[in-house]
Amino acid sequence: MKIILETKRLYLREFIPLDGYHFFHLNNDPEVIKFTGDEAFESLDEAYDFIKNYSEYKNNGFGRWAVCLKETKEFLGWCGLKFVKDKNETDLGFRFYKTHWGNGFATEAAIASVNYGFSKLKISEIIGRASIENKASLKVLKKCSFKFKEQFIYNNQPSVLYTIKNDKY
Ligand SMILES: CC(C)(COP(=O)(O)OP(=O)(O)OC[C@H]1O[C@@H](n2cnc3c(N)ncnc32)[C@H](O)[C@@H]1OP(=O)(O)O)[C@@H](O)C(=O)NCCC(=O)NCCS
Repeated sequence: MKIILETKRLYLREFIPLDGYHFFHLNNDPEVIKFTGDEAFESLDEAYDFIKNYSEYKNNGFGRWAVCLKETKEFLGWCGLKFVKDKNETDLGFRFYKTHWGNGFATEAAIASVNYGFSKLKISEIIGRASIENKASLKVLKKCSFKFKEQFIYNNQPSVLYTIKNDKY
């Protein structure tokens, strides 16, 4: 198990095969995927295969990470960075089990991910996209000091692009 970073209450680690279980159950909740553009996995096996084939760490040196509670090691959700090759940009994403919403976990994990991206990975800019109706997601981006850049349409939903620049570059 490779731990990438720690915060006061959390640690973020690379995915392990067993996380397929959590990916299945996270995406199986219509409220969790409401604004993400994702669909539920067809089966547990499909989710396990997704994790098995997750190649971001190998290809880019970073990716999304599992967010776990230090106290219990419980998997709460995921957060992290994704390099989007065709756009040459790195985006911040997060998704948590509904039972853990509203505890500040996404903000805590997201701030740490951005700091890691800037200080360790030397990324010059990180972006975040969200539907304008996804108030919690927008709040997290703002609390990470992202700034509004532009509005666009994604999946027929008005959406916004937020960005934060690494002041060392
Ligand atoms: C977005 C998400 C990760 C936020 O997780 P979280 O751990 O609850 O976030 P936090 O507790 O760190 O902060 C959320 C903030 O949004 C606020 N918030 C939550 N739901 C809200 C809503 N419906 N309307 C307005 N504000 C809301 C919270 O009050 C909090 O702000 P505060 O600290 O000022 O009180 C979580 O809602 C989630 O997993 N959503 C489904 C997946 C998703 O949409 N991901 C983003 C795709 S772009």
